[in-house]
Amino acid sequence: MTTANTETAGIEQLRTRVAEQLERARARSIALTDAVDDDDLVRQHSKLMSPLVWDLAHVGNQEELWLVRDVGGREPVRCDIDNLYDAFQHARADRPALPLLPPAEARRYVREVRDKVLDVLERSPLEGRRLEAGGFAFGMIVQHEQQHDETMLATHQLRAGAPVLHAPPPPPGRPLPAAEVLIPAASFAMGTSIDAWALDNERPAHEVFVDAFFIDTAPVTNAAYAAFIEAGGYDDPRWWSERGWAYRQHANLSAPRFWLRAADGWLRRRFGVVEPIPPDEPVVHVCFHEAQAYAAWAGRRLPTEPEWEKAARFDPATGRSRRYPWGDEDPGPEHANLGQRHLSPAPVGAYPAGASPAGVHQLVGDVWEWLDSDFHGYPGFEPFPYREYSEAFFGGDYKMLRGGSFGTDPVAGRATFRNWDHPIRRQIFAGFRCARDASPEELA
Ligand SMILES: [Fe+2]
Repeated sequence: MTTANTETAGIEQLRTRVAEQLERARARSIALTDAVDDDDLVRQHSKLMSPLVWDLAHVGNQEELWLVRDVGGREPVRCDIDNLYDAFQHARADRPALPLLPPAEARRYVREVRDKVLDVLERSPLEGRRLEAGGFAFGMIVQHEQQHDETMLATHQLRAGAPVLHAPPPPPGRPLPAAEVLIPAASFAMGTSIDAWALDNERPAHEVFVDAFFIDTAPVTNAAYAAFIEAGGYDDPRWWSERGWAYRQHANLSAPRFWLRAADGWLRRRFGVVEPIPPDEPVVHVCFHEAQAYAAWAGRRLPTEPEWEKAARFDPATGRSRRYPWGDEDPGPEHANLGQRHLSPAPVGAYPAGASPAGVHQLVGDVWEWLDSDFHGYPGFEPFPYREYSEAFFGGDYKMLRGGSFGTDPVAGRATFRNWDHPIRRQIFAGFRCARDASPEELA
């Protein structure tokens, strides 16, 4: 083949991949919204969340704005609803009171937008203009829909009533050879300048020096967290930051969200099922303050964002940073618990093929990991394609979360992906692992 032919074949491959990813995201949105009746779709299951029908039409509206109008240069499908579905105009708590599209109309709307987008995709060169090069705008919209699908999954977790979602259990765990590993001091390339679908906040790649530290080979488990509770961790201000303790008092925290005290131990409610807590699974539904208090009680601390990313991506053999802990290839079912394939985190040791070169497991998938870092742009940050995507959140009251959860799709599961949330949030699928400084004796 000539170079021109090879390039055309590459573009056609990309077009097929984009179409598949759009289809996969939509199948998930439909499954999450078809699982409940119209009454449940328009209801607010928690003040923290939008009604599911808002998420659905918002996904369609963003797709219309970016792909139909901007990339496609087409006439609006419905410009009368832009304001309703603008996340910056209406707080989640206020969304149920808006004159939202009823379920049947919302479904019709997202279908109509999608039909036009598939036509735009056929005609887009997928190169040239920055928004279209490498299919970026399509990738951004796919990731956006998948992120809302994870949000809708969290709404399902908050919903009262009988279970409506079903999935096989995750693979079994197995013991790990070590509880923690040393990551030696060295600089590494953090972020990316080459991943076509990476978002503005992951860019550009830049060298960061990270001092030697120890990091847990697995996220903190339910059993370990229960020991913190039994030891009176929630009643001892010594372990909490001042702010964390104030919040613990204010919200009367005494265990992870969805845990229930039973006569002989703990139960949890998970997507409508009440069950004993699996001891070996990563703890989930704790806020940053709880994670930080546990770490202090355990004589440790939370990792920083550069520490986490170095543990997840740095390959000491080559000196380069990988896309994922296991290498550059996209996540398969053997690598990580992603994509709502299972409806819970997997027990520790369930993904040996997903470990990093240093032997750190389950960095990607299972639970988002709270980190002791605030949200800022990397040196050389440029907002793209709009300021509100990331920059509007820099310096706000957020803590970083990394690695995705069992509810995160692989398309947003790369190890450079950055998530952030308020330090008091517990409805998200977040847990944590611990780290500690390496002492001079340990390094000698
Ligand atoms: Fe959104």
